[in-house]
Amino acid sequence: MWDFSASGNIICMGSIIMDISVKCEQFPETGETRYTPYPYEVTPGGKGANQAIAAARSGGKVRMLGRIADDLYGYELRENLRQAGIDTDMLIEDKNEKSGVAFVWVNECGDNQIICSPGVHAKNTADDVKKGLEMMKEGDILLMTMEFPRDVLMCAVKLAKEKGGFVIVDPSAAEHYRLDEQMAEYIDIIKPNEVEAEIITGIKVKTREDMERALEFMEEKGISYPLISLGQKGIIYKTGGKVCHEQGIAVETVDSTAAGDTFIGALACCLAAGKTIEEAIEYGNKAAAKCVQKMGAQASIPYAEDIEVHDR
Ligand code: RIB
Repeated sequence: MWDFSASGNIICMGSIIMDISVKCEQFPETGETRYTPYPYEVTPGGKGANQAIAAARSGGKVRMLGRIADDLYGYELRENLRQAGIDTDMLIEDKNEKSGVAFVWVNECGDNQIICSPGVHAKNTADDVKKGLEMMKEGDILLMTMEFPRDVLMCAVKLAKEKGGFVIVDPSAAEHYRLDEQMAEYIDIIKPNEVEAEIITGIKVKTREDMERALEFMEEKGISYPLISLGQKGIIYKTGGKVCHEQGIAVETVDSTAAGDTFIGALACCLAAGKTIEEAIEYGNKAAAKCVQKMGAQASIPYAEDIEVHDR
């Protein structure tokens, strides 16, 4: 079943933005103003950058693609990636746009609410993708979010497949579209959460049977390994016609921001290192459990040495 021969390289595409985060006791209701005793923080984030950082901290060889603004945040965001050992040479500097920002609120249960103003990220085009993927080689992994217009996403996944790459898509973004055969044909792994699974499949995902139907839908459309992340309940996925459940790890959640990014980045790193899908999912799940125990997006993404692995 697992016949992919990885080159070890991971190419990441997704938002690279600054997070302005604050912890609060309770989220405000519509029209309400609430005060918080906690200070706010300004730290690098964005789903694409978080995933790249997660893969790099697990030891992956990562290159980041996308547009970056020529402003203070843009400089800090690029430097942050570079310092994590990520190849930023293919980032396109856009002098006409501002960096994007995400306003992140985290309540006392560790749940978050995020409003994202993508800035320069919204300017990524299919032509950028063509240039960025010119150097992609057989066995490289493309790890991308759905934070792109459909034509940009289609261009990336199609090109990656033509080059003999392995394609992982994380549909965690505000603007989703339904998964169709045309798109699914080029995707090897997709990882929605329950809400996103419903958006991309049109199937309400509440019970175990619903999950199995959604996994089957994704598989029938052409995805080799459909996964659904269930938060604290772990990951349910389909491989070789079999539904498997990687149980969640019981930990105290301080902040769930970037847990999904950590999972998928760590998983991509394992696959790039030639591990099996089961091993990669187990590792990603452990990485995500570490991430939720600390405040912040990238601040909480663990390094390989912090993630306990048992040999199979
Ligand atoms: O997935 C978490 C990320 O989503 C945050 O870092 C924030 O940038 C938002 O886009």
